[in-house]
Amino acid sequence: MRVGVLASGRGSNLQALLDAEAAGQFGDARIACVIANVVDAPALTRARSRGVAAEFLDHRGRSRESYDQVLLGRLSEHHIEILCLAGYMRLLSAAFVARFPGPILNVHPSLLPAFPGLNAAKQALDYGVAVTGATVHLVDAGIDTGPIVQQEAVVVAADDDVESLSARILAAEHRIYPAAVRLIATGQYRLDGRRLVANR
Ligand code: GRF
Repeated sequence: MRVGVLASGRGSNLQALLDAEAAGQFGDARIACVIANVVDAPALTRARSRGVAAEFLDHRGRSRESYDQVLLGRLSEHHIEILCLAGYMRLLSAAFVARFPGPILNVHPSLLPAFPGLNAAKQALDYGVAVTGATVHLVDAGIDTGPIVQQEAVVVAADDDVESLSARILAAEHRIYPAAVRLIATGQYRLDGRRLVANR
């Protein structure tokens, strides 16, 4: 299984995936390319330092549809079968989601369906929840709406601010994303409606 990763920035989730692969947790699956829409995204450096093909694809001056078309072409060139969004700060068009030939995964810093979209940790603090967390889900045409693959809860502390809460959520993301990729790459699951059920 050839895994592609889309990123826009820091790339700490990409790093967690690269580390899991290096530790042999992905079996035959390997991260075959990383594409970023930001030229100096640290994610690109992280990929290159592991010898993974890393490409910058500029979205400026292109419509979403034409960008996504080019993106599909690049992923096809690399024979990518599973796509992971890791801090990719652009919405994928419905046409992209329909045409990409395999599963697309995303990691989100809340327990979906609570707090989709941007600034999820701030949303959780503002709402006053006692528990939030991290979610890996399959990507469909909506925003953070696809079937859930893995979740981990994070308890909100009385003295949490956005920074402290985000840091603990990020640590949870780094645990569940590799586990989710492993599950999807091995194909040991089935979808029962929205419910993703791991085979025993
Ligand atoms: C993560 O919190 C992820 O959930 C969100 O964007 C952030 C990316 O962080 N989609 P990184 O680039 O993986 O460090």
